[in-house]
Amino acid sequence: MQEEQKKLSLEPYKGTRDFYPEEMFVQNYIFSKMRAVVQRYGYVEYAASILEETALYHAKSGEEIINEQTYSFTDRGGRDVTIRPEMTPTVARMVARKRKELAFPLRWYSIPNLFRYERPQRGRLREHWQLNVDMFGAEGVEADAEVVAIASDIMKAFGASEKNFEVRINSRVLVNFLLREQLGLSPDDAHKISKLIDRKAKMPDDEFRVQAQAITGERMAELMDFLEAGTLQNFSKQLADHKSSRDLGRVITSLQERGVTNVVFSPALMRGFDYYTGTVFEVFDVSPLNNRSLFGGGRYDDLVGIFGVDKVPGVGFGMGDVTMRDYLETYKLLPKYKSSTHIYLCRLDDEQIPFIEELANYLRQQGINTGIDYSGRKLATQIKTAERQGIPYIICVGEEEARTRVFKLKNLATHEEKNVKLEDLPATMSHNILTPKV
Ligand code: HAM
Repeated sequence: MQEEQKKLSLEPYKGTRDFYPEEMFVQNYIFSKMRAVVQRYGYVEYAASILEETALYHAKSGEEIINEQTYSFTDRGGRDVTIRPEMTPTVARMVARKRKELAFPLRWYSIPNLFRYERPQRGRLREHWQLNVDMFGAEGVEADAEVVAIASDIMKAFGASEKNFEVRINSRVLVNFLLREQLGLSPDDAHKISKLIDRKAKMPDDEFRVQAQAITGERMAELMDFLEAGTLQNFSKQLADHKSSRDLGRVITSLQERGVTNVVFSPALMRGFDYYTGTVFEVFDVSPLNNRSLFGGGRYDDLVGIFGVDKVPGVGFGMGDVTMRDYLETYKLLPKYKSSTHIYLCRLDDEQIPFIEELANYLRQQGINTGIDYSGRKLATQIKTAERQGIPYIICVGEEEARTRVFKLKNLATHEEKNVKLEDLPATMSHNILTPKV
């Protein structure tokens, strides 16, 4: 018996999005702001395939992402393949591959789409785009401060005010010094406790204490003193004198000198990935309605070395489009949709078609994006189409316009009309395109 054909779903695959022109407009807006800021700091763009050999992620990403969140499969040739869940292993591979030819320090950026098998929820999807900004071959606090300053500058370029977000910062070296040297934990216990600290904000306080106590025993109080320190100045002398806390202090000072004043030392900030080796940071929305991490990054000095080449230090961050879009919506910082089509040509009857084509070509040559209505529907319907598509201007061409070559240029947002001669159209239009009265 033939199976009844299942109706095809209209929905995109779970946790992914369709980008209709309005959403694409927002996406392009977000990307263009990101690009403008990073290019201003001297970063250049790179890209790679979404497919990588699975082994790449086993080397150093962190267990959760590999065991639970990757889209992995075996290809027809028997290779284990993974759709990239993040860009850092790929860029580290690319740097290692041309280690000898590249002129360090590198300042690189990319805006890849990434796939993670997560439970879709606010701010978390299965496919997202992520601006990756990374510097390779530079050690020292100035490089750390630069990438954090870029992160902050992007927020400001979107119109965010410093009082509406916060940069939380910590140091893995400092935490490791505390756990290994001060508390005397074994490497295994230190790793376990850092994973626990990473989850601290998401669990009840009592539960954290019980689990932490089981690992740290009588040194529990020292761990809590550290986590509740508030500022670097509250540390014990031994901790305060350690190079890692002095370095972190210098990163914070350098940021303040660069005009980034909303930086907060956050001793419980770990960031999940195992490859981070130094400064780690995360940008938070501080609104009580949307109090969440927006994006983050840190220093990873050992990742390039896993490919068997000399070590190349790296530092950078990943800024996701989903959390960013939510943030911009919350603070009403998204621009209103505007079509990239500048003008729509409507016609009264078919006889004007050759003239309209000629007019359209002329306008296009002048850099004006021009669409033509071929529908043959009523004029009012043609105009409605332009309005609904967000096209700012129309010209209706009838026998008289074709003859006199004078047109009524209509601004659909303001309903203003202006008589313009053919040869004056480009100047009038480009002025209007640059300063639309919308
Ligand atoms: P991550 O913290 O896993 O770091 O991701 C960075 C940002 O990407 C997140 O803070 C969030 O904005 C966005 N993001 C991650 N997963 C999702 C998701 N499922 N849905 C929506 N947005 C998401 C990294 O990926 C590091 N590789 C970043 C990095 C670059 N570190 C140094 N360089």
